[in-house]
Amino acid sequence: TTVEWEAASYDMGGHDTYMHKEIFEQADAVDRVLRGRIDDRFSTVHLGGLNLDAREARSVRRVKILGCGTSYHAGLIGAQMIEELARIPADAEPASEFRYRNPVVDPDTLYIAVSQSGETYDVLAAVQELKRKGARVFGVVNVVGSAIARESDAGVYVHAGPEVCVVSTKCFTNTTVAFALLALHLGRIRDLSVADGKRIIEGLRKLPAQITEILDQEAEIKKIAEEYADARSMMFIGRVRGYPVAREASLKLKEVSYIHAEAYPASELKHGPLALIEPALPTVAIVPDDDLLEKNRAALEEIKARSGRILAVAHQEQEKADRTIVVPKNEDELDPILMGIPLQLLAYHTALALGRDIDKPRNLAKSVTVE
Ligand code: AGP
Repeated sequence: TTVEWEAASYDMGGHDTYMHKEIFEQADAVDRVLRGRIDDRFSTVHLGGLNLDAREARSVRRVKILGCGTSYHAGLIGAQMIEELARIPADAEPASEFRYRNPVVDPDTLYIAVSQSGETYDVLAAVQELKRKGARVFGVVNVVGSAIARESDAGVYVHAGPEVCVVSTKCFTNTTVAFALLALHLGRIRDLSVADGKRIIEGLRKLPAQITEILDQEAEIKKIAEEYADARSMMFIGRVRGYPVAREASLKLKEVSYIHAEAYPASELKHGPLALIEPALPTVAIVPDDDLLEKNRAALEEIKARSGRILAVAHQEQEKADRTIVVPKNEDELDPILMGIPLQLLAYHTALALGRDIDKPRNLAKSVTVE
């Protein structure tokens, strides 16, 4: 069984679909997740629901993030942020896999369950099993008072507001921001300097305006989507910070347009997937202006040399790409929060061009409350 779709109870606010409405709510949603949490005096954030004193925070040796689908992808970004800013080894795993492999449960690991609905059965079952074994489990959850929020020891609410479309957009973005807050908080208790804390806070404050800047490019992204809508399959690539963005963008396109899409680390292309590259298989490349820029450019060259069409999402026009969607630059660690947003619009307009049922894609339910 699945949770009933409650669309009728929310106002469309002039949008044709909930997906479109929710994509355009993101600047406000991000504002909400930040509100009242920034502490300029100590260049950190306050997370009221965390219940973790400084000594406990310092004793965390590892972070393990568990979620499904889009929430898992947000967790992949969160793990990188925690590792970069707090220097705690962190990784993310699908909750659905974790619970079936008899994992070693370690008392010094902080487990984090991520879920929009807070009702996903695989995540809930993982939380219950971890709790039974004495682990400390935090929730990064959107729906207040949901099962996962109640079962967790503590957590951070994502405050994205109600998300109706089966395909998650604004909750993904807000979850990545919630992880940035958690990473900053843990970092400032450990080795992140005041200057770096300040730098991240300034970056966080820029996000809502930068999101609006991206959404203002809708007309251009719509044109690109119409150009690529005849593709039977698409490749999404990125490196390190860009790779989870590529994975989420690939899932978004699949879910809503039914176009087959594959996500690969750009660094792995030459180990196999380059064989697929030809004009009929467009590549979407995530190209942040960070220390891997030249490496990413080299990947674009390899694709171009094999006559592949390229759409880049980058901080500056990419010469090798047929099309570039330019997004505003933030701090390197926060770039992944923004880079997926134009690709939500790409998925949306591709689905629209193909006449898909955008808010209720075939075979999917908003909340998967069974195994
Ligand atoms: C999102 O676009 C998907 N429909 C799906 O992957 C979803 O993220 C997943 O089922 C997890 O849901 P949750 O966040 O409510 O736990």
